[in-house]
Amino acid sequence: MHSVLVIEDNRTMREGLEISLKQMGLDVSSFEEGSGALEQLGKKNYDLIVTDYKLPQMDGLKVFECARKLCPGIDAILITAYGSVDLAVEAMKLGAADFLTKPFSPEELKVKVEKALATRDARAENIRLVEENELLRCEVAEAGGYGELIGESEVMFDVFDTIKRVAPTDSSVLITGESGTGKELVARAIHDKSQRKAKPFVKVSCAALSEGVLESELFGHEKGAFTGSVKARKGRFELADGGTLFLDEIGDISPAVQVRLLRVLQEQRFERVGGEKTLSVDVRLISATNKDLKEEVEKENFREDLFYRLHVLPIELPPLRARGKDIQLLARHLAAKICRRLNCSPRTFDSDALDLLAGYSWPGNVRELENVIERALVLGRGKRITRADIPLLIGGKSETRRLPSFELPSSGSIDLTETLETTERTIIEQALERAHGNKSKAARMLGLKVSALHYKLDKYGIL
Ligand SMILES: Nc1ncnc2c1ncn2[C@@H]1O[C@H](COP(=O)(O)OP(=O)(O)OP(=O)(O)O)[C@@H](O)[C@H]1O
Ligand SMILES: [Mg+2]
Repeated sequence: MHSVLVIEDNRTMREGLEISLKQMGLDVSSFEEGSGALEQLGKKNYDLIVTDYKLPQMDGLKVFECARKLCPGIDAILITAYGSVDLAVEAMKLGAADFLTKPFSPEELKVKVEKALATRDARAENIRLVEENELLRCEVAEAGGYGELIGESEVMFDVFDTIKRVAPTDSSVLITGESGTGKELVARAIHDKSQRKAKPFVKVSCAALSEGVLESELFGHEKGAFTGSVKARKGRFELADGGTLFLDEIGDISPAVQVRLLRVLQEQRFERVGGEKTLSVDVRLISATNKDLKEEVEKENFREDLFYRLHVLPIELPPLRARGKDIQLLARHLAAKICRRLNCSPRTFDSDALDLLAGYSWPGNVRELENVIERALVLGRGKRITRADIPLLIGGKSETRRLPSFELPSSGSIDLTETLETTERTIIEQALERAHGNKSKAARMLGLKVSALHYKLDKYGIL
């Protein structure tokens, strides 16, 4: 509840203000003059001062000035006599939220007070978010990641921030990203950071199962529902009750399963295959796909209504090539993890090997990096992993380092800056085209921050 301090010497006015403000559900304290109000300000927290300008001793502006010294964040609405425009301007200069000119109606008072308090709340929320963000940044930098997820690049920081925000809610999450970018790890992180963490995290790989099998996997079946079903069986929805259901490769489910899934999401109810009884469960749904689901909707392979149900909170995982800063960090982490699993003594990379890893384009993302490191650890002989232990990459071209071929004209000269700018412009246009105009996607593709891309778009007058 917000608290308001009213200062008004005229009794009728004061009581009128008190009544109106209390009707708005506010906690109100009122005073006839400034000094008593300022004393009260030292004892209790207030959000807003509503003060008359003309008071017996100190005027309203002076009261506000003193109040600001006592509580720097406090807001005020100054009540002035009709025609005193200068005073109103003065009040605004001092940082007052608003002013009211006598005579005013209770409705006018209500509008101005509500606006002042809403602005105040928005400001406080903003400060809270900025502080929270800073804190998360520090935690990530210190730990080299967020829980099991390693990374300290800007793009991954955004992902961690989103995980933190979506985890406490029950809304459906759709994780998209190329194969091997860590979608499953993100799904688990959301579950682990949620209030459901003590309950099951149940995964279903939708692409691996045929339509009929997937249906009975998801919803269960009754005894005799189909040939061979000698016993009734609970489906994954039931098994995940109270927890999280992770539907991996959701882009691959058939139209029939899409319809059933939609119904569960709409009604929170379903029946086992071959069953009559309607069951209801409390499940948080997280789905993942490496397909562009929006495109699948356009191609009519995926139901639009289901897409919107799943897509409430989207998380897009950037490919590894867009988070160059993380590669070495990940390589060290994965090497340590694999050594533990293989029960071998830990080995580190020499700097040449790390450079090689950092320069490669990683079409298979973190999973490919993991495989390359495992191979190096198993096949390498020395104490440290060297370039020679990473055979796949030695002959292989590193896409990120590959330069477009360019031939200097045989005669005359070229303007290097202009040539580079033209090339940059072309690359940006291509990325935008490939991202269907989605700027965050294009920025990620280019390893740029969205703000940096905007700057370049402006510079080249694109769009
Ligand atoms: N940020 C990360 N930090 C640490 N390990 C990671 C990270 N991202 C991915 N991995 C590891 O890489 C491997 C692949 O990750 P995951 O299975 O989550 O990818 P995916 O996006 O689900 O891939 P697919 O689409 O092929 O199913 C896993 O072993 C995972 O532990
Ligand atoms: Mg996966």
